[in-house]
Amino acid sequence: MNNENSWIGIDAIAFHGPECYVDMAELAKARGIDPAKYQKGLGQLKMAVATPCEDTVTMAAQAGRKALDKFDVDASEIGMLIIGTETGIDHSKPAAVYVHELLGLPQNCRTFETKHACYGATAGMTSAIDWIAAGRARGKKALVIASDIARYGIGTPGEPTQGAGAVAMVISDEARLVAINSEAMGDYTRQVMDFWRPLYSKYAFTDGHYSIECYLDALSGAWEAARENAADKTRFALESIDACFYHVPFTAMARKAHFRHWEIDQDVVKTNKDVSDEYAQQIMLSYQKRVSPWLSINAEVGNIYTGSLFLALMDYLRQNENSSEANISLFSYGSGCGASYCLASVHPDAAQFARLCDPSEELNNRRKLSVTEYETVIKDTENTDLHENENLDPTQWNLSDNLRYLGTRNHQRVYVNSG
Ligand code: CAA
Repeated sequence: MNNENSWIGIDAIAFHGPECYVDMAELAKARGIDPAKYQKGLGQLKMAVATPCEDTVTMAAQAGRKALDKFDVDASEIGMLIIGTETGIDHSKPAAVYVHELLGLPQNCRTFETKHACYGATAGMTSAIDWIAAGRARGKKALVIASDIARYGIGTPGEPTQGAGAVAMVISDEARLVAINSEAMGDYTRQVMDFWRPLYSKYAFTDGHYSIECYLDALSGAWEAARENAADKTRFALESIDACFYHVPFTAMARKAHFRHWEIDQDVVKTNKDVSDEYAQQIMLSYQKRVSPWLSINAEVGNIYTGSLFLALMDYLRQNENSSEANISLFSYGSGCGASYCLASVHPDAAQFARLCDPSEELNNRRKLSVTEYETVIKDTENTDLHENENLDPTQWNLSDNLRYLGTRNHQRVYVNSG
């Protein structure tokens, strides 16, 4: 619950991802790598693959449509639309304007795109919360959508940590799912070259192992700031937190993050205490209780950058059977880098919406691509910005017949499922 005893936070949530995926064991074999490295070492089982007909806008619009329809929110109730993305489709025009049209949102709506690597949607969400808390919303709600296609390129170390998808969230002051305690949020910024994508490149560059260090340092920095800001510091003790959510580029990263979280909680980092076998066992138990039960969607989708944190939260919400308020923590990291840590409360009645938060039917209906088909998709996607490709034909990739999206270049023709 927020400080003002109101529930400003996530009122509705929905996921939309590509219709195709590649199996991680098959990808590993094709690269001459032990499948256990991808499946256990990185913790990834499948990787969503966006075809040239699917992009940041089409996924965002589909996720937005689902969030509004499933939770019975009328488009006329939306007064702010924010798309958080690091894989936008235009250097100038925001993806949000296309989505605004596709969802039929009111013209008197504040609409923009936010970018800060994987942190962009969190920046959007906190802006929406502040907009409501400041009384600027005048009874309206905000729609915040995280939408991205993570691409590092074929054969690169980052390849198994790709993915694609969008998570849409309605933010309101009568949140039915999660209230964000933004008053005690801790923020952290440091200029680092851990991951970046200059204007000339379709693929991200990354210093992979360094990016993991930067992520963990940002977690320590944001956590300390949040605790400093909090009136009630006892709520920060890990033992009083029911579930912890982190940015999830690959699920093993959430394990590393929780280990760091536990170390800070126990002051191990500051005092340089050895993490003995006994400690290691306690950390693992804490991870199994507070983190790992909610990583299965991420393991099936891969990295969706801005939406990865919220995908883990959806996994919790779809399994939630609690009828009492739960205390949770959220850590958002964007390379470059920027991060925030905050506590939040799951609404005591959120369990009644568990079914609406479950994307498993969509995930189970995806089509598996062979590694060769996946490579064809990647190569063909490189050309989709070419003008002559404006009349995209989904069948030209020999993919499924039911690909319904024709790309944002022809955004008027994007089919947005309604009802
Ligand atoms: N069986 C089981 N496990 C195995 C194994 C096997 N046969 N072989 C290796 N492993 C384990 C390793 O021990 C390692 O686990 P630990 O880290 O727990 O030791 C894990 O598999 C990965 O192995 P490597 O570190 O050797 O893998 P790599 O050098 O190929 O690179 C990576 C891994 C750095 C994550 C790389 O995929 C990458 O650069 N990814 C993109 C960057 C990224 O995701 N960074 C995350 C932090 S930044 C961020 O979060 C923002 C963002 O979204 C990008």
